[in-house]
Amino acid sequence: MNSLVNESLQTPLTETLGCKYPIIQTAMGWVSTAELVQASIEAGAFGFLAAAVMAPEECETAIKTIKQATDAPFGVNLHAFQADVGRLVDLCIDYEVAAISYGRAPDAKLIDRVRARGIHCVPTIGAGKHATRAVELGADLLVCQGGEGGGHTGTTPTWLLLSEVLDQDLGVPVIACGGFKDGRGLAAALVYGADGIAMGTRFLLTRESPTPMTTKSCYLSAEVTKIPVSSKLDGLPQRMILNAQLAALESSSGISMFVRALLNGWRYKKQMDRGLFELLASAWRMSRNTEGSFVQTMMAANAPMIIQRAMVDGVPEEGVLPSGQVAGLINDLPSCEALVQAIVTEATEAQARLSGLRGSISTDPTSIDAIPVPKEEDHAL
Ligand SMILES: Cc1cc2nc3c(=O)[nH]c(=O)nc-3n(C[C@H](O)[C@H](O)[C@H](O)COP(=O)(O)O)c2cc1C
Repeated sequence: MNSLVNESLQTPLTETLGCKYPIIQTAMGWVSTAELVQASIEAGAFGFLAAAVMAPEECETAIKTIKQATDAPFGVNLHAFQADVGRLVDLCIDYEVAAISYGRAPDAKLIDRVRARGIHCVPTIGAGKHATRAVELGADLLVCQGGEGGGHTGTTPTWLLLSEVLDQDLGVPVIACGGFKDGRGLAAALVYGADGIAMGTRFLLTRESPTPMTTKSCYLSAEVTKIPVSSKLDGLPQRMILNAQLAALESSSGISMFVRALLNGWRYKKQMDRGLFELLASAWRMSRNTEGSFVQTMMAANAPMIIQRAMVDGVPEEGVLPSGQVAGLINDLPSCEALVQAIVTEATEAQARLSGLRGSISTDPTSIDAIPVPKEEDHAL
């Protein structure tokens, strides 16, 4: 491991979560498995296990696998509308994980219960207006995901969201998320006033991420402008790589979506050994949190199967690929260790460039004479 010591990389994020660097590997369904979390936390980042798509038994096995491999701290990602959310929280408490992350807020009681056991709460928000409520509910850190981020996402771009949230001065560490991939981004976020960065897509594109190579290739060849947001998959805006499946979904009418939803639901039932009733029950819980129509709710119930076709089965043309726009700028698959070390080195170099720049700015007040004062007519547009 790189012995580089850069004290500015010790931030409230590293202090609160106990990781080495102010970098979070976010939860990604069927991607942030034990294997990826272990690799990212051993590299010095803080990793979240994507338990929102796991049954409790699967989550317990993953937690045990990580704990047996390393003492480094990590967290677990949950969804408020998950069927077994209570049992997942019990696991987090029993195994003393360092943090939970969530998007749609679980109720205040659940958050209080988790925090009472010393587990940190790390919600992700996508709009400035949600920041105060998230902190009131008990956020220990706030991940602010801008619209360019992967998976479910909002419309405010990362830097604008960050500015909006930092200006509210809410008294909790703020983490920049959406579109980050390198050390320049980390340095910029720190200079901007954030306490670190969180990355999804960049960690998906590592050697240890379990995503099949056929699917990783689609991410590596994706273009920044061809990773749009669509609400057609589950009724919520989600950023995904534009492929034939997404194009077909986008152009579907209500009836063809209903038929598609039923067929997929049936296939999902057969594959996952879960009843249609169970699928619809989880869709119903979801629909109470959204304004989705019945057909969208049906789609939401089997969205996991469509995603898994790409992310687990490795048949990207028959599935959808949630992704940040940053995939358009990534064309390598480093190990997590190499990725994190490159980010640390690059951030340190960027900071050195900045202090060099600061050193070259004259503090001599007379030097202001050298700066030409614009005439009024220069301001005319
Ligand atoms: C393939 C994929 C799956 C995702 N699954 C989840 C998830 O299960 N839970 C969640 O809270 N966020 C999920 N997200 C969002 C990420 O955790 C993260 O917030 C986002 O990717 C950040 O933007 P970036 O990709 O530009 O770094 C997912 C994102 C991707 C790309």
